[in-house]
Amino acid sequence: MSTSDQDKAGSFSPVMIEDVAGGELPAGLPDVAALAQMANEFFRSAPGQAGPFGGNQFGGAQSAVTLPSMAPQFGATPSSFAPPSAERLPSEADVQRLSGSAPSAFELSLAAAPVSPNPSSFSGAGFPQSALADTIASPFSQPMPVFDLPFPNFEAALPAIPRMAALPTEADVTAALNSVSSFYFLEDAGALSKPTQAKADRPAAAAISPSLLPDLQLPRKQFDVDSVRRDFPILQERVNGKPLIWLDNAATTQKPQSVIDRISYFYEHENSNIHRAAHELAARATDAYEGARQKVARFLNAPSTNEIVFVRGATEAINLVAKSWGKRHIGKDDEIIISWIEHHANIVPWQMLAAETGARLRVAPVDDDGQILLDEFEKLLNPKTRLVSVTQVSNALGTITPTRQIVQMAHRYGARVLVDGAQSVSHMSTDVQALDCDFFVFSGHKVFGPTGIGVLYGKPDVLADTPPWQGGGNMIVDVTFEKTIYHAPPARFEAGTGNIADAVGLGAAIDYVEGLGMENIARHEHDLLIYATKLLQTVPGLRLIGTAKEKASVMSFVLEGYKTEEVGAALNKEGIAVRSGHHCAQPALRRFGVETSVRPSLALYNNYADVDALIAVLRKLKNGGA
Ligand code: ALA
Repeated sequence: MSTSDQDKAGSFSPVMIEDVAGGELPAGLPDVAALAQMANEFFRSAPGQAGPFGGNQFGGAQSAVTLPSMAPQFGATPSSFAPPSAERLPSEADVQRLSGSAPSAFELSLAAAPVSPNPSSFSGAGFPQSALADTIASPFSQPMPVFDLPFPNFEAALPAIPRMAALPTEADVTAALNSVSSFYFLEDAGALSKPTQAKADRPAAAAISPSLLPDLQLPRKQFDVDSVRRDFPILQERVNGKPLIWLDNAATTQKPQSVIDRISYFYEHENSNIHRAAHELAARATDAYEGARQKVARFLNAPSTNEIVFVRGATEAINLVAKSWGKRHIGKDDEIIISWIEHHANIVPWQMLAAETGARLRVAPVDDDGQILLDEFEKLLNPKTRLVSVTQVSNALGTITPTRQIVQMAHRYGARVLVDGAQSVSHMSTDVQALDCDFFVFSGHKVFGPTGIGVLYGKPDVLADTPPWQGGGNMIVDVTFEKTIYHAPPARFEAGTGNIADAVGLGAAIDYVEGLGMENIARHEHDLLIYATKLLQTVPGLRLIGTAKEKASVMSFVLEGYKTEEVGAALNKEGIAVRSGHHCAQPALRRFGVETSVRPSLALYNNYADVDALIAVLRKLKNGGA
């Protein structure tokens, strides 16, 4: 060690410089753009090479390296579009047949039969405003009180939560069946009685109001679920001797062959660290990784790739915002608002921040269907509100929340809004510009991509005002012992070697769903959800948890006389995977007086046979079988 080094040892006063974009560099530091240009010139000097540094963070042009011509065209290779599968609703005859002696799990095939609901009762009240649900005593007859956190003894302050409220009786089920129209809203009731052919004598699913999912454009295009299923090799698995029926999509989704192939291809032909090295594979890997960022930006309709940060998943994204943006912008007595139906990942990081800073966590209540009470939410907003963090779809209940209105209301009070899209991105189109949210988070594995990769979207001004949360390589422009200069977003938030291959796999998953068309996926799932909900409500002793008018994918329930894990085990015996438990959303379930539920959840590859098999096992259980 030289004398001058010894003199300096231990005496640094580091200065962290966050914004190099447009700012003056401190004297003596290298000019970043010039360095990047030199680097790219160096790489270009090698025959057939181009600089691996792309994008504005590195000051160079996008790499001109192209993949070898044998590279397959990944991504947009979903199954070919065949004629649409027949959408259908269970008829009363179906229900009566299914209500009789318990059929075995795979014996069911629904016979076509006209449904003749009473048009006069089409109130437009919406789906699934069920008579059945109305008969169930709610644990809370009044809207839930609003709690401020943290405060001592929170649990003691909660109203006594009754365990299972009254379960529906057979008479309730019959009443529910007799009021078919109250389950869903039909735009054109007259269409039901029109003469039709073949299976079309069921009410056409197209007649169900798109207003049930008002955030969606739902043009009817061709969607062939059988063909889609062939894209997912795991659906050929057998479990307990039965074909796998995957109804645990809210926990994770299965992967199409194109995603599996894309990840393999990365390791076979492109694997390298990114942004750093002077060789061909670094260029390929960098291009693949940054290409995935472009796909994510397009998928979310984000204006720029600079607004897309790769993280481990939605949980990490929320923690990043809490620990970094939150610590800078939320202080003592400031307020954070969440809703009663959040996943623990959108509760605990805010509790931690509140405990650390003295901020208050406020919780917007929901009604007995699991819908956020917007009036109550609005009352919580005030000039101290710094952040509203809310899910777009509840993982435990399936509720689609009125995210756009929440953003608009919060912005009127100057609050920022984080939208948790973990449960929404695979079921509906996402448009962060239309939502106008400040942050949006999701996990790759919930949208047919790999685990361990996810996304934080942030508006440019918000990300620019967010300090890095982890330090290390890749996120810096220059490091001396005295000073460190950080990259601009998104690299600022991507310290260390990221999950490169899985980011590329996520890009392939996005290609896949975009190839099918998000509107087609939403329409298919919407029809299936209505079909399944109606049949579930005919199972004696079954109580749905979460009956919002606008729902996606999730059908939580409890079954009288059975623990939720017993139901899960009975379904597993028949090869049917569902989640039984608290779903990392304990406050949401406790709001309905239960600790756990059984939670089948749908995705694009599920079909009517999957639902029929589920219902058959539940009926068999109730008949003492299984
Ligand atoms: N968040 C995931 C779920 O809802 C794990 O199951």
